[in-house]
Amino acid sequence: MTVGGEATATGNGQTVCVTGAGGYIGSWIVKLLLEKGYAVRGTVRNPDDAKNAHLRGLAGAAERLVLCKADLLDGDALRAAIAGCHGVFHTASPITDDPVRLTFFSGEISAL
Ligand SMILES: NC(=O)c1ccc[n+]([C@@H]2O[C@H](COP(=O)([O-])OP(=O)(O)OC[C@H]3O[C@@H](n4cnc5c(N)ncnc54)[C@H](OP(=O)(O)O)[C@@H]3O)[C@@H](O)[C@H]2O)c1
Repeated sequence: MTVGGEATATGNGQTVCVTGAGGYIGSWIVKLLLEKGYAVRGTVRNPDDAKNAHLRGLAGAAERLVLCKADLLDGDALRAAIAGCHGVFHTASPITDDPVRLTFFSGEISAL
């Protein structure tokens, strides 16, 4: 697994972005994509955080997983993570019940 840079596409040669890669649902999607031979670009807010360490142990992660640092509030980082990917699983989700912030987060994603 690398941080930043490019995932080396092997397997079926396609790259898929998974936002919230270190989360519950994101982690399962990353695992399944790697098992199916995809190169995966996973977004996390802090690639060095120990809570994302389990991703390093996934089969295929060393060769085909790249973790990109991206907050949902950072449109440029999200665009960079998604650019060139064949598909995106958007699982990153801010934990807030503030309707103003939730509307903002939704707008950031739809604008990409
Ligand atoms: N789990 C379920 O059974 C279930 C069922 C139905 C629907 N859902 C929905 O599916 C989505 C994911 O659920 P989950 O269980 O996988 O949640 P989770 O384990 O809490 O993962 C959510 C991820 O979102 C990321 N995140 C939070 N705020 C962010 C921000 N501002 N910018 C970038 N990333 C941010 C977190 O990344 P960091 O690690 O960087 O903080 C975390 O890894 C949620 O919308 C949830 O409501 C879940």
